[in-house]
Amino acid sequence: TYVVTENCIACKYMDCVEVCPVECFYEGENMLVIHPDQCIDCGICEPECPAAAIHSDTEAGLHAWLDLNRHYAQIWPRIHEKRPPPADADIMNGAAAKMAIFSE
Ligand code: SF4
Ligand code: F3S
Repeated sequence: TYVVTENCIACKYMDCVEVCPVECFYEGENMLVIHPDQCIDCGICEPECPAAAIHSDTEAGLHAWLDLNRHYAQIWPRIHEKRPPPADADIMNGAAAKMAIFSE
């Protein structure tokens, strides 16, 4: 599966939503997650994210993010269409320690 990681927080560009063939993204207040059981591992979304926040779980060190994606995909609503990102998305792209501003 692919997972959404920290740099999505407060960027939420949603380009990923437009390309996913199975619409397996779920929306929180300032981040999206992927449902690990619905993702078909196609990899299309990874290069589309302007924040480079999407990674394959075959990469090392992503267990906590996989758990977070699985957890919130069961709570947050499924998202089907891209909307404009937050006005300060480009400013927040690459900001440090974004988990501190993660919003459930
Ligand atoms: Fe969707 Fe493919 Fe990305 Fe999985 S890897 S979230 S199926 S676009
Ligand atoms: Fe987040 Fe990137 Fe999608 S910033 S909303 S994972 S395009």
